[in-house]
Amino acid sequence: MAKIAEKCPHIDVTVVDINEARIAAWQSDDLPVFEPGLLECVKVALGRNLFFSTAVDEAIAAADVVFISVNTPTKTYGVGAGKASDLKWVEKCARQIARVSTSDKIIVEKSTLPVRTAETIRKIIEGSGNENNMQVLSNPEFLAEGTAMTDLENPDRVLIGGETTPEGTAALNALVDVYANWVPRERILKTTLWSSELSKLTANAFLAQRISSINAISALCEETGADVDEVAFAIGMDSRIGPKFLKASIGFGGSCFQKDILNLVYLCESFGLNEVAAYWEQVITMNDYQKHRFSRRIVKSLFGTVSSKRIAILGFAFKKDTNDTRESSAIYICQDLLTERAEIAIYDPKVPAAQIFRDLGLDAEGKDADGNKLVSICSSAQEACDGAHALAILTEWDAFKEDQLDYSDIYKRMEKPAFAFDGRNLVDLDKLREIGFEASGIGKPRVE
Ligand SMILES: NC(=O)c1ccc[n+]([C@@H]2O[C@H](COP(=O)([O-])OP(=O)(O)OC[C@H]3O[C@@H](n4cnc5c(N)ncnc54)[C@H](O)[C@@H]3O)[C@@H](O)[C@H]2O)c1
Repeated sequence: MAKIAEKCPHIDVTVVDINEARIAAWQSDDLPVFEPGLLECVKVALGRNLFFSTAVDEAIAAADVVFISVNTPTKTYGVGAGKASDLKWVEKCARQIARVSTSDKIIVEKSTLPVRTAETIRKIIEGSGNENNMQVLSNPEFLAEGTAMTDLENPDRVLIGGETTPEGTAALNALVDVYANWVPRERILKTTLWSSELSKLTANAFLAQRISSINAISALCEETGADVDEVAFAIGMDSRIGPKFLKASIGFGGSCFQKDILNLVYLCESFGLNEVAAYWEQVITMNDYQKHRFSRRIVKSLFGTVSSKRIAILGFAFKKDTNDTRESSAIYICQDLLTERAEIAIYDPKVPAAQIFRDLGLDAEGKDADGNKLVSICSSAQEACDGAHALAILTEWDAFKEDQLDYSDIYKRMEKPAFAFDGRNLVDLDKLREIGFEASGIGKPRVE
């Protein structure tokens, strides 16, 4: 919305949220979301044509176009628990729009939704007796966290789905005109509602599948002495495969991939397409395997036990350049290590201590249910590595590369033998080995 406000000074954009703290933070220098370039973008339009408010009803009533961008997490209860999307927030929005609207509106699904949610929204509005002309469009968001601002500035494509009625086409064209203020028209795709909704789930499923595919091969590389980065480079030069998204790692995280694939799996199951569901579910199974494989390797390398050993965790966010930790692989790896009673010392450049404690199911002081304090949060990588038996790079922050972090100094601070586990293939393992580390990466040849 900030990008639309920046690019379209003639359009007033009001962002509303029921969360007062978030609305206050959006108007400060400390935004709720860390994203390179976002603060600058917000500042260009803030108070000019970009406004933040908790007055939801008033903002809906005044708007010509309403974007529904609320959370759609995986359902945790009842039918479809663990797979289906929980649409209660979307449904609440639809009811609220129906209740407070006194003029025609274009309602845009920006949240990622199961196919045919637009029909639900339409039925709710029709059932409410609101007689204004309400057109529902699907406009899924393809930005990636960490590169959101450049993705929005220069999107590969903008996708808009609408009904093929004259009113639907008019609404669709109105939204096309908004994006056309900065996106070339040939990159703005128009489809039916159902194609648009399904394309978003499919895009995430394909992206996650590439990661699981290369991660599957990384396990085989370790057994055979092949180097997964060399394999990825070699296959990526095939123009039919392409070079992107072939980086082996401890697995994908983030709020979208897992939830959207599970949503797709649920959708397939509900149509009785069990083989199709199982096919996509394997992407998640592979991802879980990759996380646990990494923590098992740490334990095995440290002579079969990490109990009372200090392990430095470098990075907790699900990827670099974001403070988002939702579904971060670091959570699962740390939990595995805590189950083995390791003492873990975590440093992340952007994730606050309270968030890490919450993610690990600990209290505000970092203690578990039995009162044990096994997790400490550090303010530098050096501090985390002080006295550690091993370090594990879990997020690919640039600050952890060997030209930015003095690994010789880190080595001196650690117990010997000093182990380094690079979960992101970020550092040059040979350089670390020269320093003295027992270093290993993902899908990299082992040193006997
Ligand atoms: N995060 C991403 O990178 C990304 C990318 C593409 C699509 N999406 C999709 O966008 C949607 C939102 O994702 P997110 O990461 O921003 O979620 P989020 O949980 O960070 O934010 C959702 C916000 O909606 C607010 N909200 C909930 N109900 C409300 C209501 N009735 N009225 C007003 N505000 C309400 C919440 O307070 C919260 O601040 C999801 O469907 C997600 O799949 C996210």
